[in-house]
Amino acid sequence: MATDIDPRVVEQGRAGIYRPAALVDVPEDLRARRFSAQSGGGFAVDDDLRALVSFRVLNLNGHWPMRGAFDVIFCRNVAIYFDEPTQRALWSRFAGQMEPGAGSISVTPSASPAPPPPHSSPPGHRLSPHGSKLRMKTVRVLVVDDSPTMRGVIAAVLSREPGVEVVGQAGDPLEARAAIKALNPDVMTLDVEMPNMNGLDFLER
Ligand SMILES: C[S@@+](CC[C@H](N)C(=O)[O-])C[C@H]1O[C@@H](n2cnc3c(N)ncnc32)[C@H](O)[C@@H]1O
Repeated sequence: MATDIDPRVVEQGRAGIYRPAALVDVPEDLRARRFSAQSGGGFAVDDDLRALVSFRVLNLNGHWPMRGAFDVIFCRNVAIYFDEPTQRALWSRFAGQMEPGAGSISVTPSASPAPPPPHSSPPGHRLSPHGSKLRMKTVRVLVVDDSPTMRGVIAAVLSREPGVEVVGQAGDPLEARAAIKALNPDVMTLDVEMPNMNGLDFLER
């Protein structure tokens, strides 16, 4: 089973079309047997392989309808958005969902440290390890991502950081260009795969 909270991400997975760069580690014979080139430059995985996976929308922090146990759980780059108690609760739920005596849980990257409590010091200040206040400029951030869910998650996580202000959000490179001109952010987070132009091309231009 493959899951994500965002229906568009689940649909993307279900479609099974990969960029050539995503297949660099797939052996040539396997690529030839299991993938077919698409007119848009991508590679589609074959139907037999796709049929092995059921794609579902699932909030990892909500109700889980799964009854059976899993042999392996891969959780990549999702729990990085959760605070430490939420991560800990998720690891326990994963453990409870494993086949007894078999299985492994792979989480990448490793659990991030918990963000500091919200507004533990006034914006623009951060406590040094010795408790003295360092004067910091507030960093103004623009969040660029075509997924509204991801924009919301990234903005919420960043807004919890003292000294960080999310000044705007953009859903594609064209909106991002206008937002940069209007808002003059210090930093932007940039999704790589977006409609109209991918994030790396946008960055180069
Ligand atoms: C950086 S992407 C990683 C996507 C994919 N796992 C990968 O490694 O390529 C983070 C993903 O976490 C999903 N996500 C965020 N909060 C979630 C939640 N509470 N439950 C399930 N998925 C969530 C987002 O929709 C997004 O697709």
